Amino acid sequence: MSDSSLRARLEALRKQLHEHSYRYYVLDEPSIPDVEYDRLFRELQDIEREHPEWRSDDSPTQRVGAEPLSSFSQVRHETPMLSLDNVFSEQELRDFDRRVRGRLDDGQAFHYACEPKLDGIAVSLLYVDGVLVRGATRGDGRVGEDITHNVRTVDSIPLKLQGEGWPVELEVRGEIYMPRQGFEALNMRAREEGSKTFVNPRNAAAGSLRQLDSRITASRPLEMCCYGVVASDDGLFSSHSGALAQLKRWGFLTSVELAVVDDIEACLAYYEQLLSRRDQLAYDIDGIVFKVDELALQEQLGFVSRAPRWAIAHKFPAQEEVTTLRDVEFQVGRTGAVTPVAKLEPVFVGGVTVSNATLHNLDEIERLGVKLGDTVIVRRAGDVIPQVVQVVTERRGDDVRDIVIPSCCPVCESPLERAPGEAVLRCTGGLVCAAQRKEGIKHFASRKAMDIDGLGDKLVEQMVEAGLIDSVADLFRLEQAQLSGLERMGEKSAQNLLDALSKARNTTLPRFLFALGIREVGEATASNLAKHFVSLEALMAADEEQLLAVDDVGPIVASHIRSFFATDHNREIIRQLREQGVHWPEERIEEGEQPMAGQTWVLTGNLESMTRSEAKEKLQALGAKVAGSVSAKTDCVAAGANAGSKLKKAEELGVKVIDEGGLLAVLSGQDKT
Ligand code: IVH
Repeated sequence: MSDSSLRARLEALRKQLHEHSYRYYVLDEPSIPDVEYDRLFRELQDIEREHPEWRSDDSPTQRVGAEPLSSFSQVRHETPMLSLDNVFSEQELRDFDRRVRGRLDDGQAFHYACEPKLDGIAVSLLYVDGVLVRGATRGDGRVGEDITHNVRTVDSIPLKLQGEGWPVELEVRGEIYMPRQGFEALNMRAREEGSKTFVNPRNAAAGSLRQLDSRITASRPLEMCCYGVVASDDGLFSSHSGALAQLKRWGFLTSVELAVVDDIEACLAYYEQLLSRRDQLAYDIDGIVFKVDELALQEQLGFVSRAPRWAIAHKFPAQEEVTTLRDVEFQVGRTGAVTPVAKLEPVFVGGVTVSNATLHNLDEIERLGVKLGDTVIVRRAGDVIPQVVQVVTERRGDDVRDIVIPSCCPVCESPLERAPGEAVLRCTGGLVCAAQRKEGIKHFASRKAMDIDGLGDKLVEQMVEAGLIDSVADLFRLEQAQLSGLERMGEKSAQNLLDALSKARNTTLPRFLFALGIREVGEATASNLAKHFVSLEALMAADEEQLLAVDDVGPIVASHIRSFFATDHNREIIRQLREQGVHWPEERIEEGEQPMAGQTWVLTGNLESMTRSEAKEKLQALGAKVAGSVSAKTDCVAAGANAGSKLKKAEELGVKVIDEGGLLAVLSGQDKT
């Protein structure tokens, strides 16, 4: 590239990156995924490295983030909140290690602290005399926004420190994030209500913190994990890991994944093992941070413009990527719900190549404003199915086309209907529709339902198409000869399947109810129904009032259950299943075994004698449900020290509140609440 076109590219990159960082930090509406941002950032860094004479103080490489919003008051960070340099490969990590060792005295022993890089919002908390006085965002690193009112609502942030020995002024830094489960629930609710969904947990956390009304923040499932400290007394700590251990004693949440290791080989092993567990973690992480553990050596190494020389972020493969939407297919599910599925230009994201992603429903298509040919962002995180989360409108070409919504079922050609106020399109074909039959059988056979080993989705499809089965009852009439006629099915695997079917005949009522695939009856509801009615006959005969008495059953679920059992075809299938020998023991749960069944509890504040999760387990073992937020339905709130917004809410709603002593009495059975 000639100098002049390279210079033009540099200016364009700076402009784009400024724009993206404004969208990311200020508007909370990034229009490209982080990987794309990182790529552009690195391209700019490379050009600036090649042409130092073009460097400029106002380049995005010279600062972190963007100007804070004017509606929050500003906070100056006496010690700037800096950023981290990223590496993306083993080689680059080794280069980092070599640079560190090169700057330290020959052969000096040191350690690396390894911790997850949490994907949330960096926050600073200030404590004076052990009391939280201020919470602030990073902003541009020097000036952030005052979000004290909001951080106070985050349960894992202590309002007052525990223990002793803290300095007069203590600044703690860490990441506020939204655990995945809370994020999925929040978006699910938003989708149901037709309100705006968040692209990812990071955006949800950012949006929740950027609230002028802290009641909204309080209703969001946020957590804070602390990874750094700035103390007024010098020499309080000698290592990073020691500082974190002390923070934990003072009441802060720190990462349980923290490890201190001897060398870069161990860092690489740590990276691999956490990467392999990434999907099982409760929250999103986008890499590993390695820090020289000895604080004296950190000081010796110092900083370069935007980042410390003693730390590095080793990024994971991205969970969001850009690609092109080629087509939309409409897939029919077990209950007839028709789901739009995005057919994508294959893209490597979240560790696999993704070519299909869900678009959820028609409202979602409208909300996204997506068209065929659009550049879109796909996200694949954890076990959640890949989703199209955003359209990159800046990249829309002239050749995009509208998505055509079908009026007939793509499988059985029955008309599709959309109930008033519902986002879901449904096939009216019922069991005439082969797609609904197939999906119903797949669900019946699945692990959490009847758990028929070896009966996977492909095989079900093959058997329905070959006319071997029409209903779930037909499964139990299958014979060896029929099966061995199927493609890729030997005598041995046919026999294995028959054995698995035999074994599955002996089941439990909760599994059987779940397997029936009644709309809105998931695993938990199936198990509540079984507990409540004990026998299938009692459940089938239940009227609405009796159904409403079951935990988690509201009018809609009750009506789905009633109409399922009122349908002749369904009753007939159940009769046939029992005739084929499907059975379960009738288990009555002894009164007294679960003395707190039906009660909903909320735990808040810090408990001394046990952790909140231990208390939760104990309450659950006694049959109580433990919820994350207080509502009029809460039976009791157990409040430990420094309880905040939940305690206040309980008091406002007149919900019973007990202290730790009261909780211990309940758990030991002395007090029957
Ligand atoms: S240390 C001077 N540790 O990553 C070092 N940062 O790219 C400051 N982050 O602004 C950061 N997990 O928002 C550190 N365990 C961790 C982290 C972490 C997430 C974030 C933080 C920071 C950004 C830097």
